[in-house]
Amino acid sequence: MTRKIIRNGRIVTAVDDYTADLLIDDGCIVAIGRALDVGADVEVIDAAGMLVLPGGVDCHTHMDNTFGDSTTCDSFESGTRSAAFGGTTTIVDFAFQRKGVSVLEAIERARAKGADGACIDYGFHVIVTGVDDQALADMQHAIRHEGVSSFKMFMAYPGSVMVDDAAIFQAMRMVGQHGGMIALHAENGTIIELLIKEALAQGHTAPKYHALTRPAIMEGEATHRGIKLAELADAPVYFVHLSAREALKHVVEARDMGVPVFAETCPHYLFFDDSAYDSEDFDLARYVMSPPLRSKESQQALWTALRTDDLQLVSTDHCPFCMKEGHLGRVNQKPYGRNDFSKIPNGVPGVETRMATLYDGGVRAGRISLNRFVELVSTAPSKLFGLFPQKGTIAVGSDADLVIFDPDAPHVISAKTQHGNCDFTLFEGRGVTGQVKKVLLRGELIVDGDRWLGKTGSGRYVARGESGGW
Ligand code: URP
Ligand code: ZN
Ligand code: ZN
Ligand code: ZN
Repeated sequence: MTRKIIRNGRIVTAVDDYTADLLIDDGCIVAIGRALDVGADVEVIDAAGMLVLPGGVDCHTHMDNTFGDSTTCDSFESGTRSAAFGGTTTIVDFAFQRKGVSVLEAIERARAKGADGACIDYGFHVIVTGVDDQALADMQHAIRHEGVSSFKMFMAYPGSVMVDDAAIFQAMRMVGQHGGMIALHAENGTIIELLIKEALAQGHTAPKYHALTRPAIMEGEATHRGIKLAELADAPVYFVHLSAREALKHVVEARDMGVPVFAETCPHYLFFDDSAYDSEDFDLARYVMSPPLRSKESQQALWTALRTDDLQLVSTDHCPFCMKEGHLGRVNQKPYGRNDFSKIPNGVPGVETRMATLYDGGVRAGRISLNRFVELVSTAPSKLFGLFPQKGTIAVGSDADLVIFDPDAPHVISAKTQHGNCDFTLFEGRGVTGQVKKVLLRGELIVDGDRWLGKTGSGRYVARGESGGW
C-alpha cells in the first residue's frame, strides 16, 4: 500500500485540538507533526480548513438481524457502506444465541456474514437468550478467545428474548470475573405485555399505542433493578438505548456511588420527542422503536447528561425496517403491524446520520464541546468495549481510521441521498451544517465526497479486549 500524508488538517481527538500533518503507512498512523518532510512517492491529501477526526465507532447496530418474523432491511454490506458515508469506520453488531444456536455458533455465524459483506471493521456482542452451564462456559471462552467481551440481555419481550433476573445475575457474575460486561435492554417486559394486551382488547391498534404501553417509569424500574443485580454480582453493567430521565436518575445515582454503570443514548431520543405520537395514523410506525420517544423533559436531561458524563456515549441502535412493504424485496417490514401495533418491527435507521446530527445539534448548538463530541462517537465506545487504542483516537500506532469533516458545509438529510437500504430517515428534510467529506479505513480512502471507493468484504473483524473498564 502507498504511504499517505494528510496535510494541515485540524486534528481533534477527545483531548487534543491542533493543526498538523498525519503520516500513514501500512494502515496505521506512523507520524504526526508540522510540515512533515516526506518523499515524492507519498500521496498527499489536503485537509486545510477541515477537521480530522478519528473514525466513528458505533457499538449498537443491527445489520441483517432477525427479530420474530422480521429481518432488518440493511445487509452487512449496505449497512456498513451507509455507516462509512456517515463517518463511522467500526461497528459492534450482534450475534444471536437462540434455541439450537449456542453462543459460540452464534459468533461463528455472525462472523461469516461480516466476512462476506463488511465494508468497515466490525465486532459483535452476543445477544444471550438462555443461561445454562454451557452458555456460561461459552461466554467465558468468547471473552478470552473470540474477542467478544460484551453480551446483551433483554428485560423485555417475554416469550421471545426476555430473560429473568436470575439469568442476568448469573451472566453478570461470570462475565464480571473475566473482563466482560452485560448490556441490558431495560424495560419491564411483563408489565408492557399486560398493557399491550389491554390496549388491543380496547381496539387500540395504531402505532401511537406502542409508546403508550411502554411507560418511562418501567424503564426506570428495570434500570434500577439491573443496577442492583450488577452490584450484587460485582460486575460492570451497560444500559443500551437509555431514553428516559426516570432511568437516567438511577444511572447518575449509581455512578455517584462509584458503581461501574455505563449508558448510551441514541440520536432519535435527542432530536425527537413523544409529541410525534399525536395521531392514530399508521405513518407513525416510523417512530416505533423501543424504548419509544420520551418527553421533552427527558430529552433535555439526556443532553445535559452527555455533557456531564452521566451518559458516556451515543450509539445509533440502527435497526432499519422499511415503511413500504416489499421495498428492495424486504418483507414483514413496518406494515406487518398495520392492524396491530405490537407486530410493527421495532427500530429505526440511524447509522449514517449519527455524526452529522450530533455535530450540528450538539457542537454547533453549544450543548457539547468538539472534544466531547469525538469522545461520545468514537473514543468512549472504543474504550468501553475493548477497541482502544487501535480504534477511537488519532495517535501514532493507532489504525488510520480517519474522517475528514467540513465543519461549515451545510446539507439536507434525505433517505434518497443515503446509502443504506431503508426507505426513510427520521431526519428527512432536516438541514444540518457539518459534513463528512472523506473517510479512510486503515489508510484506504473509502469515501471521497459522493464517491464510494470501499470494497465489500474488506472490513476486518476486530477481536476486542476486555469490556467495562476505562
Ligand atoms: O427498537 C429497537 N431498539 N429495536 C432494536 C432491538 C433493540 O432492542 O435494541
Ligand atoms: Zn477457542
Ligand atoms: Zn434493545
Ligand atoms: Zn438495538
